[in-house]
Amino acid sequence: MHRFTNKKMKLLRSRYGFRYFKLLIWLVISFIFYIQFINRHQPNTNSLRTNLIPHSHSNAVSNMISESDTVSFLRRNHGSFNDMKIYIYNLPSRYNLDWLTNERCSNHLFASEVAIHKALMNSDIRTFDPLQADFFFVPVYVSCNFSTNGFPAIGHARSLLKSAVELISSELPYWNRSNGSDHVFVASHDHGACFHAMEDKAVANGIPEFMKNSIILQTFAVKHRHRCQDVEHVVIPPYVSPEKVRSTPVNGNRDIFVFFRGKMEVHPKNVSGRFYSRRVRTEILKKFGKNKRFYLKRHRFDGYYSEIARSVFCLCPRGWAPWSPRVVEAAALGCVPVIVADEIRLPLEAAVPWAEISVTVAEKDVGKLAGILDDVAATNLTWIQRRLWDPKVRHALLFNNDVEDGDATWHVLVALSDRLDRSYRRWRAVNK
Ligand SMILES: *[C@@H]1O[C@H](CO)[C@@H](O)[C@H](O)[C@H]1NC(C)=O
Ligand SMILES: *[C@@H]1O[C@H](CO)[C@@H](O)[C@H](O)[C@H]1NC(C)=O
Ligand SMILES: *[C@@H]1O[C@H](CO)[C@@H](O)[C@H](O)[C@H]1NC(C)=O
Ligand SMILES: *[C@@H]1O[C@H](CO)[C@@H](O)[C@H](O)[C@H]1NC(C)=O
Ligand SMILES: *[C@@H]1O[C@H](CO)[C@@H](O)[C@H](O)[C@H]1NC(C)=O
Repeated sequence: MHRFTNKKMKLLRSRYGFRYFKLLIWLVISFIFYIQFINRHQPNTNSLRTNLIPHSHSNAVSNMISESDTVSFLRRNHGSFNDMKIYIYNLPSRYNLDWLTNERCSNHLFASEVAIHKALMNSDIRTFDPLQADFFFVPVYVSCNFSTNGFPAIGHARSLLKSAVELISSELPYWNRSNGSDHVFVASHDHGACFHAMEDKAVANGIPEFMKNSIILQTFAVKHRHRCQDVEHVVIPPYVSPEKVRSTPVNGNRDIFVFFRGKMEVHPKNVSGRFYSRRVRTEILKKFGKNKRFYLKRHRFDGYYSEIARSVFCLCPRGWAPWSPRVVEAAALGCVPVIVADEIRLPLEAAVPWAEISVTVAEKDVGKLAGILDDVAATNLTWIQRRLWDPKVRHALLFNNDVEDGDATWHVLVALSDRLDRSYRRWRAVNK
């Protein structure tokens, strides 16, 4: 109880301190720039919690974008998204920041839960006054409990989220007044908020009852009705490090025709009736393992990104789940994604013209890959590449530390601003 009271004090302090900080901000702003510049390359475990000051403009604008982009970005950031405001709960660090002591937490394929939190913390759409908020972001990192085999153990996801929701709903009035429907979560692993890698188990578990009214930002999505997306959701790209992508030279010399590196089992195990990747990857290995134009590798390699940058086509076959970070890695490095995952729905469909920049091959046709890709190479490859190499594509798929006009977090904000009918604050304003 005692801890909860302290917690409440802290949550409220940020609200009543806001006006005071507003006056101070312009005086301390250059100091903040300086500190943030210094801290940029080291994990700053305090910054999320103590940074009560809305983020500076110039810091939010990366030097990657030009002057005129900067102007439009600033205008957007203040005037667009329909003046949407998001409040970020200041949860105890055991829900989020403590996990960052493991450096992998902010860098692996499920790390959009960290990246989106960071970007929102630094964004101008953030409000410190919950009464001004349209949405409430609940920052819980559930994918960073790495087991000994290196894969995230998400067995604790439900209980960790449940306890976070119990905390915010008992301490503050905002959850109860809308029953969570203006609250936003990230669920970035295999089957979204079902929290299990195996589809049948995920479906059996379903989405936790307490999250069913909320908005889920998730990487998992399929075209048919599915229990793990039966909730208001936004399909987000899997996390791929923007620094790693930008530091990979792309010189246009693509000497590999078809590339894949990753798990390909020769004899996939029958795991209660299911086979990894529905045996698609096994088929690829069997059919094309000896084909010289197929560069297929099964082990981890540090130069993985340079291989993608050297390739014309990059295979993105399903794993346990249909999606994989390969789609983003390939697109960001200019290699045409070849998607072999029936029924998949790709991220940010409204922003990224997937049908024009990728090749889709049905799982049953995976044995015909060579012919299909030869066909594409002979007919429309140049056209596909021209669309793919539009810098907007890469930009839309990457999460930056600070929201940039057109990047992944920015598109998430666009998607949220399309759901402002869920804003309790606006609903109250109309129904006074
Ligand atoms: C991390 O995962 C392990 C194995 O699933 C589990 O026993 C442990 O309780 C988890 N740790 C936390 C802090 O939830
Ligand atoms: C919200 O509702 C729950 C369950 O009904 C209750 O236990 C809790 O005290 C409520 N929270 C607030 C802040 O009133
Ligand atoms: C809140 O939503 C949950 C999930 O849909 C539901 O089980 C519960 O009955 C709702 N509570 C209220 C008070 O509407
Ligand atoms: C896989 O195992 C299940 C039992 O778990 C069995 O019913 C099924 O026939 C097996 N499938 C194949 C293709 O071996
Ligand atoms: C490219 O051509 C293939 C057939 O050769 C076709 O299936 C595909 O839709 C075309 N892609 C685009 C983007 O036009």
